[in-house]
Amino acid sequence: MLVRLMYASRAAEALRADALGAIVRESTQHNPTVGITGVLCFSGSIFLQVLEGGRSQVSALYNRIAQEQRHHDVVLLSYDEIDERSFSGWAMGQVNLARLNPGLLLKYSEAAVLDPYTVSGKVSKALFAELVATASVACTL
Ligand SMILES: Cc1cc2nc3c(=O)[nH]c(=O)nc-3n(C[C@H](O)[C@H](O)[C@H](O)COP(=O)(O)O)c2cc1C
Repeated sequence: MLVRLMYASRAAEALRADALGAIVRESTQHNPTVGITGVLCFSGSIFLQVLEGGRSQVSALYNRIAQEQRHHDVVLLSYDEIDERSFSGWAMGQVNLARLNPGLLLKYSEAAVLDPYTVSGKVSKALFAELVATASVACTL
């Protein structure tokens, strides 16, 4: 039973520039031990993360992440039972929005900024699909 979950959150004020690297390092160590794959997207102030794997494992990790002090305003954007993974190659892929083509963001939103709070979960899912299709995800296995 595989599921895919997507959420958004706002980074804590005090989040240091190197904090994203630390989160990705923690994730790439832990996620393979529980069969979780996914992608973490960071705009400088907003996180957008996709977690996929077993239902119990994804649920447990999401609950842990939601209680984290390094971010707040955690909002569930989508949750689906899936037949196959989209990000099986990534223990936790990392999207650096500084390197993104602004046109990709403009395609789905009013301005070329990542703001999952103002678009539907469907739109955020479509954006992620294009990120992967255009290989904008840095592999961190
Ligand atoms: C935006 C964000 C994404 C995170 N993603 C993951 C993740 O994919 N896997 C993971 O193990 N921890 C992730 N973490 C870290 C967890 O919230 C938590 O700190 C870590 O799993 C250690 O938990 P513990 O102190 O309860 O053992 C993330 C944290 C943040 C702020």
